Amino acid sequence: MILHRPHPVAHPIAGMMAAVLTLALSSAAWGQSPAAAGDAAAGAQKTAMCAGCHGILGYKTAFPEVYSVPRIGGQNPAYIVKALQAYKSGERTHPSMRGISATLSDKDMADLAAYYSAGPSKVAAH
Ligand code: HEC
Repeated sequence: MILHRPHPVAHPIAGMMAAVLTLALSSAAWGQSPAAAGDAAAGAQKTAMCAGCHGILGYKTAFPEVYSVPRIGGQNPAYIVKALQAYKSGERTHPSMRGISATLSDKDMADLAAYYSAGPSKVAAH
């Protein structure tokens, strides 16, 4: 007599899980190499929250105290990413930059760095 074997559902599901896991791992790997993954065009779309301070040459913020805003246009991209990560981690403590960097992903930082490092003339146009 032939016994009905249970439908082998376990295998396709395991396959799908492996695929999902592979995807998750590869996107994590992207996040770990922000300098390489920076996209200046994507970065340009994220500067709305930076331009208010960094877009104006010689601009000083009035809050929480009078601060000269450093020029980041033309800055080395690895330096920009490192600075943003330092604000996010609390290693650098400027309150405005801490608040802003907390909202940025590694990809955002890389994109912004790629955009700003392209040069001050590009930034001044905004
Ligand atoms: C409220 C004003 C303000 C906004 C908005 C702002 N910044 Fe800043 N940023 C500053 C000030 C002030 C400093 C200098 C802080 C310090 O002394 O650590 C700074 C420092 C930096 C530095 C370090 C520069 C250096 O030479 O070490 C980077 C990089 C930077 N900002 C990038 C950004 C990016 C990218 C954005 C948008 C996502 C942004 N900032 C938005 C005011 C601002």
